[in-house]
Amino acid sequence: MGVVALVPAAGRGERLGHAVPKALVPVDGVPLLVRAVRGLFAAGCVRHVVIAAPPSDVDTVRTVTAPLAPADGAVRVLAGGAERSDSVRLALAHALREFPDTDVVLVHDAARAFTPPQVITAVVDAVRAGHPAVIPVLPVADTVKQVDADGVVVATPDRSALRVVQTPQGFDAGTLLRAHESGLHATDDAGLVERLGVPVTTVPGHPDALKITTPFDLAVAEALLVGGQA
Ligand code: CTP
Ligand code: MG
Repeated sequence: MGVVALVPAAGRGERLGHAVPKALVPVDGVPLLVRAVRGLFAAGCVRHVVIAAPPSDVDTVRTVTAPLAPADGAVRVLAGGAERSDSVRLALAHALREFPDTDVVLVHDAARAFTPPQVITAVVDAVRAGHPAVIPVLPVADTVKQVDADGVVVATPDRSALRVVQTPQGFDAGTLLRAHESGLHATDDAGLVERLGVPVTTVPGHPDALKITTPFDLAVAEALLVGGQA
């Protein structure tokens, strides 16, 4: 029985616009991916980490992440796929083949490098408590509008019932495998599970678990470090 974290890190980071793939972009000298993997192990409940790396950077990713593995765990690196979901599927197949006693799988974006350990443990604890799919969420601060193709507002959803979703998303291993084998499509792993008709449970997320997407987000991450919060 064990927890494996899959880390999709194979994106180019087009919106960040750095010379290197986003996972290797340093914040205070430490690449985002290294921070993300350190955070997973620091939570204390993750045994192994499987990283989907940019195909051109597998060796570099292996070199920078190999020292992060604990004595009783492993860090594995493989080439990711064309889309995030392809990267997750490849990492999941590797994890279930190499670590067959895995019962809980987390999927955690390398880009959420500053996720606090308590978010990770809350997700794992909820899966262990019997929830097949668990996601960390935050309330929505802004009013949200639904618009048509011309940008005209068609509806204003009740904000109190909306949540923004973070990672790690946690799953019973069999449920995540079934979701990825289903041939369904969704923008995140919980979305796939939802389409199977499996309930998805929420736990509180954290503002520090922001996804670093743009140069603005990177500046926020640097400010978190300066402020001693990360
Ligand atoms: N990802 C991946 N494989 C892909 C695309 C994305 O593993 N083919 C990963 C990214 O590395 C990232 C996470 O999925 O950790 C979330 O994706 P996103 O924030 O969109 O990162 P990028 O795709 O790298 O950024 P952009 O869309 O700006 O190019
Ligand atoms: Mg992307």
